[in-house]
Amino acid sequence: MVNALFENSSQSIEFFVNSDYKETKNVDPRTTLLTYLRENGYTGTKYGCGEGGCGACTVVIAEYDRNRKMINYRSANSCLLPVCSLNRKQIITIEGIGNPENPNPIQKKFAEGNASQCGFCTPGIVMSFYALLKLNPNPTKHDIEESFDGNLCRCTGYRPILESAKSFASDCCSSTDSSCSSSSSKSSCNSAFLNEYKPYDPSLDRPFPSKFMSHDSQEIPLFLKQDNYLWIEPTNLGELLKAKAAFPNAKIVGGNTEIGVEMNIRSFDYTVFINISNMKETKSVEVSEIDGKKSVEIGANITLSSLIESLKILKINSPTHHNRLYDALLSNLKWFASRQIRNFATLAGNIVTGSPISDLSPILMANNAVLTVMNESQGHRQIPIRSFFKGYRSNDLKSDEILFKISIELPSNELTFVKAYKQAKRKDDDIAITNACIRVSLDKKQENNFVINELNISYGGVAPTTIYLGKLETKFKDSKWGDEQLFDNILDSVLEEVKFAYSVPGGMPTYRRCLSVSFFTRFWYQVIKELGIREKDLDPKDLENLEEIEREITRGTQDIGLLNSDEHALGTTNPHLSALKQVTGVARYVDDIPKQNGELCGVLVMSTKAHARIKSVDASKALSLDGVYDFITYNDLRHNKCGAIVKDEEILASNEVFFAGQPIGLIVAESKKLAKKAALLVKVDYEPLEEIITIEDALKKNSFFSFNREIKKGDFDEKTFVIDEGNRNEFVFEGSCHIGGQEHFYLETQGCLVVPKNEDNELEIFSSTQNPSEVQKEVSTALGIPMNRVICKVKRLGGGFGGKETRGGSIAAIASAAALKLQKPIRFILDRDVDMLITGTRHPFLGKYKIRVTKDGYFKALYLEIYNNAGYSLDLSSSVCERALTHCDNVYNFPKIHVKGRLAKTNIASNTAFRGFGGPQGMMITEMMISEISEKLAMDPNEIRQKNFYKENDITHFNMPIEDWFIPEMWNTLMENSQYIKQKEEINLFNAKNRWKKRGLAIVPSKFGLSFTTRFLNKAGALVHIYTDGTILLSHGGVEMGQGLHTKMIQIAANTLQIPIDEIYIAETATDKVPNTSPTAASVSSDMYGMAVMDACQQLSERIKPYREKNPNGNIGDWALAAYFDRVNLSADGYYQTPDLSYDWETNTGRLYFYFTNGVAVSSVELDLLTGDHTILRSDIIMDIGKSINYSIDIGQIEGAFIQGVGWCTIEELLVQTNNNTAFTRGPGNYKIPGFRDIPVEFNVKILRDKVYKHLKTVKSSKGIGEPPLFLGASVFFALRDAVVAARRSNGVNSPLVQFPSPCTAEILRLACEDSLVKKSQVEPKVILM
Ligand SMILES: Cc1cc2nc3c(=O)[nH]c(=O)nc-3n(C[C@H](O)[C@H](O)[C@H](O)COP(=O)(O)OP(=O)(O)OC[C@H]3O[C@@H](n4cnc5c(N)ncnc54)[C@H](O)[C@@H]3O)c2cc1C
Ligand code: FES
Ligand code: FES
Repeated sequence: MVNALFENSSQSIEFFVNSDYKETKNVDPRTTLLTYLRENGYTGTKYGCGEGGCGACTVVIAEYDRNRKMINYRSANSCLLPVCSLNRKQIITIEGIGNPENPNPIQKKFAEGNASQCGFCTPGIVMSFYALLKLNPNPTKHDIEESFDGNLCRCTGYRPILESAKSFASDCCSSTDSSCSSSSSKSSCNSAFLNEYKPYDPSLDRPFPSKFMSHDSQEIPLFLKQDNYLWIEPTNLGELLKAKAAFPNAKIVGGNTEIGVEMNIRSFDYTVFINISNMKETKSVEVSEIDGKKSVEIGANITLSSLIESLKILKINSPTHHNRLYDALLSNLKWFASRQIRNFATLAGNIVTGSPISDLSPILMANNAVLTVMNESQGHRQIPIRSFFKGYRSNDLKSDEILFKISIELPSNELTFVKAYKQAKRKDDDIAITNACIRVSLDKKQENNFVINELNISYGGVAPTTIYLGKLETKFKDSKWGDEQLFDNILDSVLEEVKFAYSVPGGMPTYRRCLSVSFFTRFWYQVIKELGIREKDLDPKDLENLEEIEREITRGTQDIGLLNSDEHALGTTNPHLSALKQVTGVARYVDDIPKQNGELCGVLVMSTKAHARIKSVDASKALSLDGVYDFITYNDLRHNKCGAIVKDEEILASNEVFFAGQPIGLIVAESKKLAKKAALLVKVDYEPLEEIITIEDALKKNSFFSFNREIKKGDFDEKTFVIDEGNRNEFVFEGSCHIGGQEHFYLETQGCLVVPKNEDNELEIFSSTQNPSEVQKEVSTALGIPMNRVICKVKRLGGGFGGKETRGGSIAAIASAAALKLQKPIRFILDRDVDMLITGTRHPFLGKYKIRVTKDGYFKALYLEIYNNAGYSLDLSSSVCERALTHCDNVYNFPKIHVKGRLAKTNIASNTAFRGFGGPQGMMITEMMISEISEKLAMDPNEIRQKNFYKENDITHFNMPIEDWFIPEMWNTLMENSQYIKQKEEINLFNAKNRWKKRGLAIVPSKFGLSFTTRFLNKAGALVHIYTDGTILLSHGGVEMGQGLHTKMIQIAANTLQIPIDEIYIAETATDKVPNTSPTAASVSSDMYGMAVMDACQQLSERIKPYREKNPNGNIGDWALAAYFDRVNLSADGYYQTPDLSYDWETNTGRLYFYFTNGVAVSSVELDLLTGDHTILRSDIIMDIGKSINYSIDIGQIEGAFIQGVGWCTIEELLVQTNNNTAFTRGPGNYKIPGFRDIPVEFNVKILRDKVYKHLKTVKSSKGIGEPPLFLGASVFFALRDAVVAARRSNGVNSPLVQFPSPCTAEILRLACEDSLVKKSQVEPKVILM
């Protein structure tokens, strides 16, 4: 039958990539568009996650709509889109819209607007914006703000991206936009820039191929086959049902967004696919009426974007009560995934998946939707959705059935109210923690008296399926809406239905129960408000500000003062010199290097146990697959040890594994897909051993590394923390502070390409490391080959943030072992989930403090124990701890201070460097302590802060003089600039008026020490060649990872040589150019490499001086040529050692840091007390960055670091699965970094200018900036804490808020309010009697 059906089918697909026509027969139906593009040279499209969560892979799909006779453009996640589904479509990639020579206006604007740092996210972001302009060439600022919900950037802090994009807005520079009027500063509106840019002109884009618009080509079904895999694409319902009858196990493909994740991430393998995404019959939306009841009928496979459009159109002519249902759908669709996902995902896909956190199922359930399903033999049958779900992700659909249509009952009159709710970890592009739809139909008895006819409540995220609270449907019939007793009774009934064990999968039992009643509370009051019910007990505050938080359009200023540098090429605002390459997708990262001759791919076999003895490893099945070359184990390594400071890690585990994810071996195969399949076949037998995961576990089991660092200032004795009886002037407080870790989430995952040179064991390694010399050394040691045979090269990184400082060595060593053994190039790029599993994170910290303080808030003595969770090996944990010990003073003078540091040894991946390197955690502990004691002393925390500020020439507890100290002045300036007092007054007023929302405000200072705390690392080299045409090739030991290091080095070289920057080029960082380098880390690279570059350039400058003097009107080319003929050496190396560093930890003498980079930030927030949701209303930052080499780059570092700091202490939460102690957070799906709508609505950055630095000995008095601003993100944490304290006060909770942890997720914030709903919802841990 199938043969008959497909007699006339096509066995090939055709499409265009940009203007390139492609026709192909042999496509594996599992091949994603991303894989196809990258394998065919379109490497501008990036892999960031493979699960639709980062947007790095965004492309635009264009197709001809025959009915509407127009071209449709949709942004898409190419990582989820099967290439087979793209028949007769055009794929537009970043390469297709412009190139560095002729960039698209978007690309030009983004490049010049500093919207790209590392550039890895950039092509995806540009394509998202391009899609918006294709759909709507005149978007408003609001449209633009909403258009990036599917893209993440880890570097920029988003502001410059939004700002660049908004310069295309139709309402840019509207007279109402106050940000346009900014004069001395660069305003967010960019009006000044607008005239310089060509406006976006869609007619200049590549045309849609006319070949696919002709009517003569009939739609014919597709039947594609490769090996055992089939792709079937019917063109109508009849064909579809026939195909499904013939292949009952075939996977119906809608948008493939769920199936794609199953195959990419969960290793599901399907063999037969039936694509219905191009079939029109399942895509209509219409209103029907049967027996007087109206329903909206939705074709099952309408995409969610089309559904949104259709609902908006329906709303225009529908009565209010119908619109209530449409609005409920629209409100959850607004927060459903991202636009790239919504453009392809379908309603049927969402329903059939049956996820308990589906955002649409609660609405369908509460509104009694009926599903029409069909098969070939029996036609159609109808299933009420309330009985459709049978268990976790299982349903009532038979194998040969398809879901055809969904009918949702429309509210029958004006007294029916419907609302939907969703709470997630992050607002944009996140799955729900809990969601709900509540519908009530009321009867009017008399004025002000409405009684319940029917109550329909459905929840997601509270059980293995979406649930419908059927028992409540009529339980409260005829009860009066607005009656307080009724309200309580409904809440109790809801909680009766929503019950969890404390250990429920997914966790958060109390929070999820609490959300269920909080949603109902919101609904209750919203209906009261809409009905205008007046109850005597009703406080007007109950009806104020009931809706979820709405953000305004973001705005802000970057105040760098007047640019008046008298230094050639320095103190400028020129953008990153690779920006144009990055925005056009031309910039190359490791995985963009073309496939080498004979290249093989590596995939890891990793431990599934957190701690176990390895009993056996059997790779025979894997090795038996055709195309699998080898399984590399520890036996293939000459020395199986590595480690940044102490060699305490095995590169590949031999007998014992110490964390879930630890590499055991590497499967090497012809393709990554095959290597992944083979890796799953390697069988490892384990004998479980005791597992220690948290610092608390380590304390209980006394599991620590033998590192005991302490610093003491002042005399301590047994009375230091004893208050004499009768002493009312002083207090001793004790407490503990918990700070979670943070995943780096650089957009480019770690990896390398190793090319053996087939002679003398030479290896060329292209790595994504921040530390090329370390990679070279680890490979050389592991393989027992001399360092002079190993060259490590780095072009650029797609972000590093410390995560690529030490962890790249073993990755390169494993790949190199394979390359050497097989004498073939090996590509070994970690998938996102593997990267997150094995490469470690920022260290979680625990601080236990005891402080003596006067009643006026003056510090007397502090005793502090600091613990970090190092993981299973030492890595850099000792240095991280040392930095925490030397930053726990922050900007305060403790007359006596004794700090101790310890490293918990646990069975998690080894934690490692992360921007700030323990500094933020040290400062956080102290600021948390100040917040706690301020409540205990009933004092304003800012008073305590100011009273204890360091003064110029004070000495820190680690013997460092406080020099060039502007913190008190910056504090005052920021207080004034941020209108702190006015903001405070307004917030107090707002809080007094509002029951459901509270606002908070906080100011936080930061002092950050610059230098590696390990002295020998404070050195740098550079190599500069001048060629006879006058061009200069500059090499130095630092790595470009988006921070603009190469740009600054070129500026410094140009300044020293007094030539234009265009003459200077940096090709890459390589160990054969500049040897024995330190990692690019600790924010000191510009300082150190800048000095080394200066040194080399000064030598060359001296050498060409005679020729310059002889020919003053010539250029560098003339002088170089003259020098060349004079036999002058036009190559010079430069070197630099940071002076004065002499600290001795044993004696606490000498100097540890070269200087400090300091800043202050003020943030205000609004908190939704019912959900724990929040938004940052405003952040103001002032930074002392000395005399900047490049203000644009430094502003980018400040904003990016700040937002990373915000993520660290608010939404970024690392989780471990309790059943197997394996990291749970392994991708953007369950680990949330800040998105576009998580930045402050108003974001102002000011640079401290015109100061005299008496002690600063850096390049032209510039300062390191990469890490110092990160901690300022904590101002948002403390503002949220302030809002929570206000909520607690209004809930009558007067006890101090102690142990308020970081990150303060929505769960923490909601539960800390301690209102009656929290108390009602409490799920107590079970006490097991033994
Ligand atoms: C990044 C990301 C974010 C997400 N965010 C959200 C979110 O915020 N809220 C939320 O609820 N969900 C979210 N999801 C999950 C979402 O449910 C699905 O991605 C989407 O709705 C599935 O639709 P699809 O057409 O892509 O399904 P597909 O992947 O094509 O199919 C999913 C399942 O449905 C079956 N199927 C599809 N159509 C039919 C049919 N007509 N008859 C029978 N079976 C059919 C398929 O066989 C398959 O089993 C997210 C997913 C991703 C990847
Ligand atoms: S790679 Fe596709 S969304 Fe991340
Ligand atoms: S510039 Fe966006 S991730 Fe680096």
